[in-house]
Amino acid sequence: MARILITSAIPYINGIKHLGNLIGSQLPADLFARYQRGRGNEVMFLCATDEHGTPAELAAAKAGKPVAEYCAEMHEVQADIAKRFGLSFDHFGRSSSPQNHKLTQHFAGKLAEAGLIREVTEKQVYSNADGRFLPDRYIEGTCPNCGYEKARGDQCENCTKQLDPTDLIDPRSAISGSTDLEVRETKHLYLRQSAMKDQLDAWIDGKTDWPVLTTSIAKKWLHDGDGLQDRGITRDLDWGIPVKKGDEDWPGMEGKVFYVWFDAPIEYIACAKEWADAHGKPDAEWERWWRTDKGADDVRYVQFMGKDNVPFHTLSFPATILGSGEPWKLVDHLKSFNYLNYDGGQFSTSQGRGVFMDQALDILPADYWRWWLLSHAPESSDSEFTWENFQQSVNKDLADVLGNFVSRITKFCRSKFGEEVPSGGEYGEREQALIEELTKRIRAYEAHMEAMEVRKSAQELRAIWVAGNEYLQAAAPWSTFKEDPEQAAAQVRLGLNLIRLYAVLSAPFIPETSARMLSAMNTLDTSWPEDVEAALNALPAGHAFTVPDVLFAKITDEQREDWQTHFAGVRS
Ligand code: 2FM
Ligand code: ZN
Repeated sequence: MARILITSAIPYINGIKHLGNLIGSQLPADLFARYQRGRGNEVMFLCATDEHGTPAELAAAKAGKPVAEYCAEMHEVQADIAKRFGLSFDHFGRSSSPQNHKLTQHFAGKLAEAGLIREVTEKQVYSNADGRFLPDRYIEGTCPNCGYEKARGDQCENCTKQLDPTDLIDPRSAISGSTDLEVRETKHLYLRQSAMKDQLDAWIDGKTDWPVLTTSIAKKWLHDGDGLQDRGITRDLDWGIPVKKGDEDWPGMEGKVFYVWFDAPIEYIACAKEWADAHGKPDAEWERWWRTDKGADDVRYVQFMGKDNVPFHTLSFPATILGSGEPWKLVDHLKSFNYLNYDGGQFSTSQGRGVFMDQALDILPADYWRWWLLSHAPESSDSEFTWENFQQSVNKDLADVLGNFVSRITKFCRSKFGEEVPSGGEYGEREQALIEELTKRIRAYEAHMEAMEVRKSAQELRAIWVAGNEYLQAAAPWSTFKEDPEQAAAQVRLGLNLIRLYAVLSAPFIPETSARMLSAMNTLDTSWPEDVEAALNALPAGHAFTVPDVLFAKITDEQREDWQTHFAGVRS
């Protein structure tokens, strides 16, 4: 039994995620986790909410709530939606957890001991009225380029010019509106990534099986321009993890917090401790996933993320881990995704454009979305959601191919043999041919799933469903029954067994439907079809079953048009 550690990029806390976010990390990670569990491997699948930084502060302010309260509430909202989408995390943690505070401070202490942190004095805008330093985007003023009066300190959203806060005319605090601002000196910590360049370079060179999309991004940051730059890992904010060296205070760093991108990936590790603590397990239980000196040397660690997250995961986080000098597990395989677009444009959280996870579940069950998203995952290039394409996939793949197969065979059996697997007859040539084809296809499906080729896996699964339909069409038990009821019984027996087989194979994609299929077949046997012939004899003659309700309802043209109109605007 292999041991597989899986993490999905942790979603920002500031609002419900859209379908583009979902397919960029959490959903494919879930597919992989479910598949590996299905194969009998031991899996630890972790995700969390990413709760620090200015976006969290701004979203809380907009909601008129203290930031800690806002985060606690939004965490519950996201956890609930994740559950309803069937995301099978072993733990859904919080980057603001006490465990992550401690571990982040621990890493900073180790990096400091190793001489990998330097202190830098910088100039930054301070608001006397607010009693705090202002991040660039908290400063507003008139754009020197176009005269727009509400330009932000980092960028003018009217003319898109990149700005420095000091470029703004009549600058004021975006929090209080105060113009009583001054430039003050402030001290920050920088992670000396440049000192680790060769070590990181050599580590990436060893990753020959990584997709080029991943390694080329890392190599670009390592070699372009002046090469890998040191990175600021602290901020002048209230909300975040206080800057400390392990348990000790850090002189000069009072009132400062770690930068959100420093503590977010550390939460992957802290999340495992949260899991252990939540279940009253000793530290050894989570450490065997993360510490190579405590059993994690035989763990395979796979990360899932969107392409924009790749630099942090190939450089900054490994720099933190390697720099600590401690035996933490490094990522073995990193699966990254391009973007999913929405109906001729981009999904956008800030503009409320596209379909958001809660809205999706309001109109259709999770499996409809899971199937479409996974079978159209933006792997080799960006992909696009259109309502036409969604309707077509659901109606063809799910309703016509899989749903129809299940309905036809169970109803036919009920009408001729009753609600139990019929006895009599034997599998003949046609059945052997099907077993051969399925064996080939199932082995191909396994290979694609192992390689995390999401679209190819979906295609193969669909082909497996089609093979069953074609068999049924050709065998035509409804005709056979008239001359040779024994043979028809064998054909139906095979068909009913195929339903169980499909439930097992399809579970990673459409878990809810898979459970309904197994329940209709009245079986708890979810064993993987290592031997397809044996799998097609798993339900013996005489085994009782029930005809399930329709598995997938077709999407009508009217529904499609309604949704198209409904989701054309922006969500407020
Ligand atoms: O891009 C994002 O949604 C980030 N919140 C991902 C963080 S992943 C990791 F570093 F934890
Ligand atoms: Zn401007």
